[in-house]
Amino acid sequence: MENIAVLGTQWGDEGKGKITDYLTSRADVVVRYQGGNNAGHTVKFDGKKYALHLLPSGILNPKTINVMANGMVINPEAFYDELSKLENSFNLYISDRAHIVLPYHIEKDKRNETKDNIGTTHKGIGPTYEDKYGRRGVRVADFVGPHNKEILTKKFEENKAYLSNVDINELVSKYLELANFMKSYVKDTSYLLNEMVHTKKILFEGAQGVLLCIDHGTFPYVTSSSPTAASIPINTGLAPWFIKGAIGVTKAYSTRVGNGPFPSELFGELADKIRIIGNEFGTTTGRPRRIGWLDTVVINYSKRVSGISTLAITLLDVLTGLDEIKIVTKYLLDGKEIDSIPASVKDFERCEPMTISLPGWKEDITQVKSFDELPTNAKNYIKKIEELTGIPVSIVSVGPDRIQTIEVKPVL
Ligand code: GDP
Ligand code: IMO
Ligand code: MG
Repeated sequence: MENIAVLGTQWGDEGKGKITDYLTSRADVVVRYQGGNNAGHTVKFDGKKYALHLLPSGILNPKTINVMANGMVINPEAFYDELSKLENSFNLYISDRAHIVLPYHIEKDKRNETKDNIGTTHKGIGPTYEDKYGRRGVRVADFVGPHNKEILTKKFEENKAYLSNVDINELVSKYLELANFMKSYVKDTSYLLNEMVHTKKILFEGAQGVLLCIDHGTFPYVTSSSPTAASIPINTGLAPWFIKGAIGVTKAYSTRVGNGPFPSELFGELADKIRIIGNEFGTTTGRPRRIGWLDTVVINYSKRVSGISTLAITLLDVLTGLDEIKIVTKYLLDGKEIDSIPASVKDFERCEPMTISLPGWKEDITQVKSFDELPTNAKNYIKKIEELTGIPVSIVSVGPDRIQTIEVKPVL
């Protein structure tokens, strides 16, 4: 396998964790390059289920080298909690240039939400990136460095308004302990990756999805980083030409958590049915996910702005039993057909979905091991996605477990 990115082509929760874990055994290194513990990546194998938020999905494989690169924002408490729960041995490095999420970022996020109503995960992600770009954030190197007491005290004092009922000295002590815990994992990961890239295979694990990208997503209903393949070089310190392609993880239908326009959205009984069968409740916040048909305007948009070389279609089993399955292929905006996403959220809100309809299948597909064994209508659904997007499908996932994965074509 080449060095590739695994990224979500929709609004997150496409099954990136599952696909990253599935491909981990073919790579030596797994890198998370953006976001923080707003992500929730589920991995299931040998009867066990893991929910990863900050840690790369390669962490469950003792042979894999895991990197949390400079583009990430890291909550030290969440890091401590997640790492302490791991039962296996692991290999992990954190970039000395990643930024630290502090308690006042979380409080700011919550307070902003009372007016902005984006539907964030309340993990402090936006305010931490704001501080990074405002040049007032705290980098990992300083968080674990010799002057950390002074730096933390200053930051907590400056942000006292967001730390009501908190004793600042106690908070500093707590964060110094967390810094101590983090210290042994810290490295110049760009240096490390550049050394490894000549001898090892690297998998880049995106968080969120391309439609949640700060630049190309459905702004302002987005996250504050870029999950696109294009963001990997800057977020890791590795040249773009080392990355050979991207596998676009695509749910067989669509989901969205949080607010913002969602043209293919379904309501009522059908949405409830898919939500229950697909267990569509947020891995991070537990919120019920909004449900919609697959939307190839969205997939083609992701293909264009991010570059997607091949698709992994996930949760296909969830559609089993439906008489008909629809795919949104275009939008109608003010009476005109369009095949891309308008930049203004006001325009996107007015887009009406134009759909095609395909017959469903009734057979249980959760134990199917090859593409040929799938029911004809399931095969036709996959072929239709290939036709509408022009992207070859290399993986079809028919259940949450690692073994419920069909490889249709070689993955790059
Ligand atoms: P991620 O954020 O992209 O890693 O996705 P999440 O883990 O948040 O959400 C995907 C959910 O779908 C998780 O509960 C997975 O265990 C589950 N899942 C992944 N692939 C499949 C599949 O093919 N079929 C079913 N039924 N569930 C799947
Ligand atoms: P994974 O990696 C789905 C959404 C939030 C909200 C918006 C901004 O599991 O796919 P933020 O807290 O990032 O400022 O929230 O982005 N969001 C996600 N939705 N999956 C995710 O991650 C998400 N991470 C953020 O719901 O709409
Ligand atoms: Mg998720």
